[in-house]
This record gives sequence, structure tokens and C-alpha cells, in this order.
Amino acid sequence: MPDPWPTAITNIKPNSVRVRGYDIAELMGRCSFGQMVYLLLLGEPPDAPTGRLMEAILVSSVDHGATPPSALAARTVASTGASLSASVAAGVMSINRHHGGAIEACAHTLGEVVEKARFGKTLDEASDDVIGGYKKRGERIAGFGHRVHTADPRTRRLFELAAEAGVGNTPDTEPSHVDAARALERAFARAGKPLPINVDGAIGAILADLGFDHATMNGIFMIARAPGLVAHVVEEQHRMKPMRKIDPASHTYDGPADRTAPNQE
Ligand SMILES: CC(C)(COP(=O)(O)OP(=O)(O)OC[C@H]1O[C@@H](n2cnc3c(N)ncnc32)[C@H](O)[C@@H]1OP(=O)(O)O)[C@@H](O)C(=O)NCCC(=O)NCCS
Repeated sequence: MPDPWPTAITNIKPNSVRVRGYDIAELMGRCSFGQMVYLLLLGEPPDAPTGRLMEAILVSSVDHGATPPSALAARTVASTGASLSASVAAGVMSINRHHGGAIEACAHTLGEVVEKARFGKTLDEASDDVIGGYKKRGERIAGFGHRVHTADPRTRRLFELAAEAGVGNTPDTEPSHVDAARALERAFARAGKPLPINVDGAIGAILADLGFDHATMNGIFMIARAPGLVAHVVEEQHRMKPMRKIDPASHTYDGPADRTAPNQE
């Protein structure tokens, strides 16, 4: 028998399933999906406010209507008669550098600002430098600007929950990615081009401050968006004619009218 290969994620034995050492039956009903994703990817469970923050990140990205490329790709493939798995996979395959990828790319840029601020510059000076560099190269800074929203409600709520979890807001100690995001927002305004931090930028900042590896950040977006893609594919299969010409912009919403979320506490 060859030497066994190592895995540190889940230990399966007869009548026992332990994820990162924890009995899955003990976690079930006590641990939220966000806490579980955090445990799975970082190896240790989050404290309660960080678990709520992680849960909010997943909820914030669950769907953004019929126009994002992943929904369009999933619906287009579904309309050809493809299976649920093939259609959802098509949606996931369109989550890349320019869709969902702004999370990782923004975390990288915020890292540049944080690095400069560690070596003597203020966050504002570091942000001006970084924006100047991107402008010179003719590149956009991922995580800023939005096609639809000028004050994205998801961003504000994520930063509120981040503050409750003690993430960011440490300008007097170690510069954080959340503070760097706010400093870049101020720098865009100073440069005469006020661009809001978008939801991807907020998530990139928070995940970087929580210590997530850049390589897992697009994966967190995929985990969050998978339920939305399943919903789009199932709706396409049940409500629409096969092989229709899909114009993403010419849809109309006919779901429930606005209502208040039930209190789950
Ligand atoms: C999301 C995005 C495509 C929306 O773009 P838009 O509102 O249609 O804006 P436009 O592409 O028309 O750009 C308007 C101006 O703002 C500038 N701009 C927009 N977003 C910018 C950014 N992130 N960094 C630098 N400049 C930006 C453009 O260069 C353009 O400048 P100009 O008028 O001098 O030519 C754009 O803001 C962007 O590329 N953002 C970065 C990628 C990102 O975060 N994607 C995730 C979205 S949730």
C-alpha cells in the first residue's frame, strides 16, 4: 500500500464526521453556515460577531438579479435543455477576474495601501499614491464604482457588522484594509471622481482583515452566489421557453412586493 496522502479538513470514521476536529452533529443547529464556512476555510471557529459578519457576507452576495454575467450564463445554458448541474456550473464558470473577482483584486490593492501606510505614509497619502499609479497605467481600481448603486446598502451594513466584530477602524494602531478602503474612497473624491466602495470592495477589505488568503476570496463569492444561480436555472427551466433569445436588460420583476424580513433572533 502506498503511503496515505494527508488532508486536514474532515475526518470520517464509522458513525463519526468531524470537520476541523469538531463533531458535525454538535455543530448542526448551533453553528450558522457563515461560521461553518469560516471554520472550514480558516481552520478555527469565529467568535460570535465575526460569525455574524461572515454570515452577512454570504447573504449579501446570494443574488443580484437577472443581469450579472453568471445569471445570464446559467440561464442561457439552461435554455438549451442542459441539466441543473451543467447550467449552474456555467454560471460559476463566469465568476472570474471581472465578475466576483473584484473582491480579490480589491484586497490586493488595499494591501498596497496598507503596506505604504506601514512605512511612514498616512493612509490618505498612501491612497493618493496608489490611485496615481493606477491612473498612470490606465487601470481601474477594483471594488470601487457600481453600474447601479451610488450608496450600496450592502456595503454600509457590512461595515457596520465589521465594526461590531472589531474589524477595521484601527487607524492609530495597525492600518487595516477596511480603513484603507475608506481612505481610497476619500482619495477618489479628492481627485474629483467620487466613486463609492462597492460590495465586492467591502467584502475584499473585510476578508483581508479577517486573514483570508486572496486565493480563497473568489471561492467565497462562488459559495455565496450558488443559491442564486440555482434559483435562476430552476426559474428558467420552469417558466421560460427553451432556446429563447435572452436580453438581460429587458426583464420585469413580478415576485413579492417589498416586505420586512422576519426577526430570526
Ligand atoms: C463597476 C463599473 C464597471 C461601473 O462602471 P460605470 O458606472 O458604468 O462607469 P463607467 O465605466 O462609465 O466609468 C465612469 C468613469 O469613472 C471611472 N471609473 C469607474 N470605475 C472606476 C474605478 N473602479 N477605478 C477608476 N476609475 C473608475 C471611469 O474611468 C470613467 O472615467 P471617465 O469618465 O474619465 O472616462 C466600474 O466602476 C468598474 O470597472 N469598477 C471596478 C470593477 C469592480 O469593482 N467591479 C465590481 C462591481 S460590484
